[in-house]
Amino acid sequence: MRTSWAQLSQEISACANCALCEGCMQKVPGQGDPNAALMLIGEGPGQQEDNQGLAFVGPAGQLLTKMLAAIQLPRERVYICNIVKCRPPQNRTPLPEEMEACRTHLLAQWALVQPRVVLLLGATAVQGVLGESYRITRCHGQWYERGGVPVLATFHPSALLRDESKKRDAWMDLKIVRQKLIELGAYPDLLKGEP
Ligand code: URA
Repeated sequence: MRTSWAQLSQEISACANCALCEGCMQKVPGQGDPNAALMLIGEGPGQQEDNQGLAFVGPAGQLLTKMLAAIQLPRERVYICNIVKCRPPQNRTPLPEEMEACRTHLLAQWALVQPRVVLLLGATAVQGVLGESYRITRCHGQWYERGGVPVLATFHPSALLRDESKKRDAWMDLKIVRQKLIELGAYPDLLKGEP
C-alpha cells in the first residue's frame, strides 16, 4: 500500500539513512499543494531553509517565487521539494550516496503528489532524477519522461542569481513548462493567454 503523507512525514523526521542529518538543524521535507499538477525538485536545503524547515525560502526561493508568478503560478499551487531533505554542510553539493539514501523519500513524494509535470531545478536534480550522465547545460528545456510523467530541467535559481545571462534560457524553459501544463489541461483557472 502507498505511504500516506502522515507516514512519510514521520519517516523523514526519523530518517538517519545518511550522515547529513547529524549536521542539520531540522529536516526540510518540502511543501505546497499535495495534489499539485506541477512538482519542482531542487538540490537541498540551504541555511534559511534549515532554519525554517521549509524548502526554497532564502534568496533562491524568492527568485523562484517570482519565476513561477511570471508564468501565472502562485507557489502555493505547486509542490516544491529537494533531492535531499537535510542541509549539506557549508551548502556543498550532496554526494551521490546521500542522494541515493534520500531517494526513497523523493519517490514517495512523487507517488503521493502524482504530478502531471515535473520541473528539475539545476544539475543535482537533473542527476538525481534523469541520471548521472545528464548535464543541465545540454538537457535544459527538453522533455524527458520518468514513470510516465513529462520531466523538464531548467537552471537552479541560485545559478541565475550568480549568472544573469542564464535568465533568458530559464524564461524559455518556463514557458515550455507552461505550454505543457496548458496542453494537459492543468491549472485551467490560472493559465490563460500569453504569460
Ligand atoms: N536551494 C535548493 O536547492 N533548495 C532549497 O530549498 C533552497 C535552495
